[in-house]
This record gives sequence, structure tokens and C-alpha cells, in this order.
Amino acid sequence: MDRRRISALAHADHPIAAPLSDTSVARLLDRALRDGTEPDGAVPDGAERDRDVRDRDVRILDLGCGEAAWLVRAVEGRPGVRAHGVDLDAGTVARARDGIAARGFGDRVTLYAQDARAFVAEEPFDVVLCVGAAHAFGGLLPTLEAVRRHLAPGGTALIGDAFWEREPRQGTLDAGFEADDYTDLGTTVDRIVADGWTPVYGHISTTEEWDEYEWSWTGSLSRWALDHPDDPDSGEALRAAAEHRSGWLHGYRRTLGFVTLVLRRTPGRVR
Ligand SMILES: C[S@@+](CC[C@H](N)C(=O)[O-])C[C@H]1O[C@@H](n2cnc3c(N)ncnc32)[C@H](O)[C@@H]1O
Repeated sequence: MDRRRISALAHADHPIAAPLSDTSVARLLDRALRDGTEPDGAVPDGAERDRDVRDRDVRILDLGCGEAAWLVRAVEGRPGVRAHGVDLDAGTVARARDGIAARGFGDRVTLYAQDARAFVAEEPFDVVLCVGAAHAFGGLLPTLEAVRRHLAPGGTALIGDAFWEREPRQGTLDAGFEADDYTDLGTTVDRIVADGWTPVYGHISTTEEWDEYEWSWTGSLSRWALDHPDDPDSGEALRAAAEHRSGWLHGYRRTLGFVTLVLRRTPGRVR
């Protein structure tokens, strides 16, 4: 069964392809977009900031946008936001475009079906997102490098990546991870800071958010398989859901963490 079909079915009830609740996503976007409207680094008072967010044309980019769930939430209720998303998977992008058009955001969200590593834009962006897609760039630091290339001076990055909540045990490694895939949270943030970024907000996914994500992933795929017994993919879908659930429950639950950070460039470190 095509991995992309598995992913599309598995994310039916949890469109953000990362362990984050809608509330966490909304809060992170609020912080990132607020900071992204102040490219000179000035911090206006609350009233001015609110007006800024409403009236200003803010350009945001999502690298590895998947179904563009972050971008749809970013433009919802913010008429001044124009969003761009890049994803390698043409099928995912086509589905995302249909959803965006159906919601009436077609004129403000533009998607590109291409490799984000080769994406070139004419203008930089006020806010650049990359959540759960660091593997596309070969890890955290190359991801930050890619984000930096697209960021306007004074812009804001929103980066989500995994870390080890605790040392991975054999069950986690058996689920397909390598011990050096990630570092602990403190080291992860230290590496980002050493790369010239200052975290201005962050969110560490809770066990509840992880459980909701994984039960949705495995549950949606299983439900689809049970509802479509005649589909040639149903048996494989059920097996894929069971394997994923086992890898999670016997392996990485409470070992794999996920942190999403709102980042600004550290003065004096801007390249
Ligand atoms: C875990 S999903 C995250 C999607 C989205 N950021 C979210 O949080 O909902 C990772 C996405 O990265 C995309 N991807 C992987 N390699 C890529 C590449 N080289 N260029 C662009 N997208 C890529 C995949 O197709 C997938 O949609």
C-alpha cells in the first residue's frame, strides 16, 4: 500500500501531522504571526500590535506543509495574511488545494508541489514554518539554514521537531529509531541558540497531545480498513495501523518528545 495513502487516511481526524492540539497550534500561530509583523524588531503596545496583525499584509511560508493545515489556520480570521506552502508530495498538495479552494482561501494560499530544498521565492517571508519535516533537510540545523534563507530581516521562524524525553530503550530502537536521531530537549534548544536564534516562545507536546495524535493516526486508519473490507488495501492498512500502534505503545511512548519553537534571529548573529 502506498505510504502516502496510509498517511492521508491516518490523518483524517488529526489534520496537523504532528502531536499538537488545535489550541496549541492556535497559540503558536498567534505568537509567530504577532512577532512576524514587527520586522524591525520593535515591540508595539497591545493595541498597536493588534491593528498591525489585522491590517498588514504578512507573508508566511510553510516548508513541508503537508495538507497545509497550519496555513489554513493562519489565514482564517486574518485577512492580511498571505500564505505559501511547499510539499514534495503532489497528491497531498492536490488534496490540500481542493480543501483550500472549498474554504474560499484560494486567493490567499498558494501551494507548490516540489522539493522544499530547491524552493526559490522572489521575496522573503515574515514568518517561515517547518513542523515535522526536518527530515526533508537532513536534520534540525540544515532545516534552520533553509528557513533562514527565506526569512525577511527581523522575521520569525516556527520550527517543530522531535527530541528524546528520555534515553531511547530497545523497544524504541526496535520501532525504527536510531539513538542519534535526536538529542534531549536542553541540547536541542542549545543547538538552536548556538545557531544564532533566540526562542521567544515554545510548546512541548504533552502526553495527552501525543496520545490523541497516535490514537487518531492508528484509529482513523483502522476504522477506514474495517469500513472498506473490499478495498484491496484494507488488509495492509489494518496491519500498518497495528504495527504503528505497537511501535508507539511498546516503544516510543513517553520517550519521543516534540517541541515547537517560535524563533527570532539573535542580534549580532544575523548572516
Ligand atoms: C509529518 S508531515 C508534516 C506536515 C505539516 N508540516 C504538518 O505539521 O501538518 C511531513 C511533510 O514533509 C513533506 N516532505 C518530505 N520531504 C520533503 C521535501 N524534500 N520537500 C518538501 N516536502 C517534503 C512530506 O511530504 C510531508 O507532507
